[in-house]
Amino acid sequence: MSPHLLSVDSLNRDSVNHLLRVAAQMEPIAQRRQITRVLEGAVLGNLFFEASTRTRVSFHTAFCRLGGSVCDTTGFTFSSMAKGESLYDTSRVMSGYCDAIVMRHPDQGSVAEFAAATNVPVINGGDGPGEHPSQALLDIYTIDKEFQRLGKSFSGAHILMTGDLKYGRTVHSLIKLLSLYDPLRITLVSPPGLEMPTALIDLVTSRGHQVEVRDHLATDFSDLDVVYTTRIQKERFTEEMNENFQGISDDFMVNKAFLDQRCTDSTIIMHPLPRDSRAGANDLNVDLNGDPRLAIFRQTDNGISMRMAIFATLLQVDTLIEKDLRPV
Ligand code: CP
Repeated sequence: MSPHLLSVDSLNRDSVNHLLRVAAQMEPIAQRRQITRVLEGAVLGNLFFEASTRTRVSFHTAFCRLGGSVCDTTGFTFSSMAKGESLYDTSRVMSGYCDAIVMRHPDQGSVAEFAAATNVPVINGGDGPGEHPSQALLDIYTIDKEFQRLGKSFSGAHILMTGDLKYGRTVHSLIKLLSLYDPLRITLVSPPGLEMPTALIDLVTSRGHQVEVRDHLATDFSDLDVVYTTRIQKERFTEEMNENFQGISDDFMVNKAFLDQRCTDSTIIMHPLPRDSRAGANDLNVDLNGDPRLAIFRQTDNGISMRMAIFATLLQVDTLIEKDLRPV
């Protein structure tokens, strides 16, 4: 694996499988049934220049569960970037203080620019509409676990991605990771103007996957194994898009009626979260709460184990975990 995790482009099936194995090994530690101190003395710089709950807190927790300590900076206001300091200078300074850095930033490419100036591993916690590699890895880990539970395999699976496929960085990373697997059926459904970038569709089809693009959910789908829905990222719209945006029609609502009519008992429903609970937001209805097919909170729980696996692998302590396990 590369020294950083900036994009899923640096991963292949072997490195993904390695991370899945290490994440599974981390589960008892993530759930605090066992303890390890393999990162004792190490410090994580957790730099979030854009809103986050899951990614920021789960990276923090994951580093602590491995025995390390965390320095958090949230928002530009509390960083010297507010005084005009460049990404380059911030990176050089932080790499003198920390053993690893996680960064989220509103500009695509900014985390890679930051990583170019540092001596320590940098993880992209989301760069604008670019990528969110750790989310895609925890999503693959979740699909893998759910498929094992249901007696299914990736080969030939039918995966529906819906919502904002243009600005949703999680789906950009996830579709690239899925393309490393045996041929899949991938259906992409988005409101007009929010389609998956053509370059990503071309990449996936060139790797032998069957991709179908549709413009609403009110249609027959056969044998859906995974429905992966996303929030409309209005904060990334251009001024013109915001002026013309009329809201999302019910044609894109993933709710109980959609599951009853279009899904099977073994379809799993995923969302990277947050889901938008404001009126008029149609990404994932709360009427599915309590439905066992709703995997969203199993997904968030899996984030701790996968992020522990990422730290352990990048900081090269993954082989030490087994010998360092202690009871609580
Ligand atoms: N999925 C995700 O990135 O959530 P946060 O924005 O809360 O980190």
